[in-house]
Amino acid sequence: MQMHDPARDEQGARRGFLSKVMALAAGGLATLAPAGAGVWVLLDPLRRKSAAASFLRVTEIEAIPDDGVPRQFPIVTDRVDAWTGFPAEPVGAVYLRREKGSDVVQALSATCPHAGCFVEMEPAEHCFRCPCHNSSFTLDGGIVAPSPSPRPMDELECRIGHGGAVEVKWQNFFTGIAEKVARP
Ligand code: FES
Repeated sequence: MQMHDPARDEQGARRGFLSKVMALAAGGLATLAPAGAGVWVLLDPLRRKSAAASFLRVTEIEAIPDDGVPRQFPIVTDRVDAWTGFPAEPVGAVYLRREKGSDVVQALSATCPHAGCFVEMEPAEHCFRCPCHNSSFTLDGGIVAPSPSPRPMDELECRIGHGGAVEVKWQNFFTGIAEKVARP
């Protein structure tokens, strides 16, 4: 006949409790995983902070056809937080476009002003669309009503530097508000 051992029972109960806690934690983390590639910018505030308000070389003007159609380019820069410096890596993206015969480049942040998802081009429909809540924008960044986004796409300062380098002042802005307010 097997003897009842209260110490062993208690140990078993504790082990069962711990495995339940671990399972709940794992489930919680799984639900926090980004639902799509579009939200990665939103999920990494360090990336946003590191590259705030500086002109960065993005491409050359020849790489932007003068057909009025935006082209997407990554923003690549070094990143530094309180403890560590990181080598150059993508921190966001911009759409660049220019009109026929023009050397003026318009730069639009690819970050949706509604909640920070990644705005995508819809070439067939000649517009931008955000996959998260369906905000639409014209090719020059204008808002298409009705739209969850409270403002047009965020335009960024852009200049042509030495040798035709296209330099964009990379900034992030607060999302979800009608005013375009730069993050510090
Ligand atoms: S985040 Fe783009 S529409 Fe909501």
